[in-house]
Amino acid sequence: MNERNTVSSAARPRFSEEALQQIQEIYKRYPRDRRASALMPVLHLAQREFGGWLSRESLDYVAEVMEMPPIRVYEVATFYTMYNLQPVGKYHVQACTNISCWLCGSDRIMEALKTKLRIKVGQTTEDKRFTLREVECLGACVNAPMMQINDDYYENLTVDKVAEIIDRLP
Ligand code: FES
Repeated sequence: MNERNTVSSAARPRFSEEALQQIQEIYKRYPRDRRASALMPVLHLAQREFGGWLSRESLDYVAEVMEMPPIRVYEVATFYTMYNLQPVGKYHVQACTNISCWLCGSDRIMEALKTKLRIKVGQTTEDKRFTLREVECLGACVNAPMMQINDDYYENLTVDKVAEIIDRLP
């Protein structure tokens, strides 16, 4: 079983009142008999609420809230790479190495990240600040090479820019 398919344990989480209200808003985007379609945005919300990743308990809780079998939640959460099934650092660095970024030097960008952070792809720094991941196309090919850190895109990267960006993070 690889990392993507691993569902780890943690204390049982609870949505905040605000998040529960947001879920009701999400439901309104879909027909009543298609509530399962709301699963992806609800999982995204859960990931934000529960420290940037989804434990087995979080997935079970989402299933309970959405009144669906847990297996339906596992299927989605283990398929899409935007759901983190292991804890990630404060800054989740996702470097694209797909074709456009690769042609524009993503190998150098990845090496710069590994050197700067002193970790390998898939690892988290000891201080839990950074997790480094290699990802497929993030849809910003026009400004390749690029990376995503949490919700922000950093484009037209150079080796020097990578170091600057990392150094500027609070
Ligand atoms: S190939 Fe990197 S953003 Fe598309």
